[in-house]
Amino acid sequence: MYSKLHQLVQLLALSSAAIRSVVAQDNTTDTTTSNSTLAALADGNAAFMADIATTDPGLLQNQTIQGQAPKYLYLGCSDSRVPEGTIFNAKPGTLLVQRNNGNLFYTIDASLQAILGSAVYGYNVTDIIVMGHYGCGAVGAAFVPPPPPPVDAAMAAIQNFVDPMRELYRTSTREEVVELRDTLAQDGTATLPGYDDPGFRALVEENVKANVERIAASAIIQDHYYSFGENQPVFIHGLVYDVSTGQVYNLGVSVGPDGVPIPEVPFPLVS
Ligand SMILES: *[C@@H]1O[C@H](CO)[C@@H](O)[C@H](O)[C@H]1NC(C)=O
Ligand SMILES: *[C@@H]1O[C@H](CO)[C@@H](O)[C@H](O)[C@H]1NC(C)=O
Ligand SMILES: *[C@@H]1O[C@H](CO)[C@@H](O)[C@H](O)[C@H]1NC(C)=O
Ligand SMILES: *[C@@H]1O[C@H](CO)[C@@H](O)[C@H](O)[C@H]1NC(C)=O
Repeated sequence: MYSKLHQLVQLLALSSAAIRSVVAQDNTTDTTTSNSTLAALADGNAAFMADIATTDPGLLQNQTIQGQAPKYLYLGCSDSRVPEGTIFNAKPGTLLVQRNNGNLFYTIDASLQAILGSAVYGYNVTDIIVMGHYGCGAVGAAFVPPPPPPVDAAMAAIQNFVDPMRELYRTSTREEVVELRDTLAQDGTATLPGYDDPGFRALVEENVKANVERIAASAIIQDHYYSFGENQPVFIHGLVYDVSTGQVYNLGVSVGPDGVPIPEVPFPLVS
């Protein structure tokens, strides 16, 4: 069973040459001074503290006393290649964050409900960001049929998260997805499309859109729009990240309360 899980994880570990070369070059910050597996993290933490004491003296002390006042709630993927603080070059105190496999929002997720409620009613965030990323393993798993039972606990847990992706893949009417679906159906093979496959990219984007819509339709947001409307608008945006370049793109699916114009979303529109 473990090996089956391992196979899936390996299948999802994209091996595009572009990504491999990005990873291979990432050795410039390796200042490891001990042989512990955690040495890189301990060294990184020391470097972070030294850095922020120089660039923002007093920031951490101020935030300790004054608390946090983040303007954004970020829902992203657990993928290690998409660290929100790093890709936005954001200081502590900038983003409230929730990440899971495939940046999924469901109202039955108590943890997400709690963070959405406190973001909107506690911190009065102005913007909610759903961030997908190309090459997303959770989306890619939709292209691979579920393993036959019996499955072990870890595989069962993963499959629970893949189900909504499979539904999206099966029902999407987007041209690139339909094309890929037809091709894979003819092939009868269960292969993960390449990072740049148009159908794979399209499904990543469709998944972001679906989750923007689910957040907008949630009782917390609808209630807030009803109670505060244009006086204290909260906008929900769909963005997507290119792992191979670091660029964030706007999907152009932002929503806000009725009658309130959507402010400019200053990321290039996805092509
Ligand atoms: C970092 O990686 C590059 C590319 O793999 C290699 O040429 C270079 O020698 C490495 N530098 C160090 C300090 O390991
Ligand atoms: C790792 O570090 C420990 C403690 O410093 C040392 O005793 C050990 O020999 C090291 N092992 C290797 C493989 O370098
Ligand atoms: C910390 O707070 C003080 C007092 O409000 C302010 O003058 C200073 O600019 C703040 N520093 C930072 C880095 O936020
Ligand atoms: C959030 O907005 C409400 C309603 O306008 C207001 O009463 C509250 O003080 C605000 N909270 C923060 C932290 O700004």
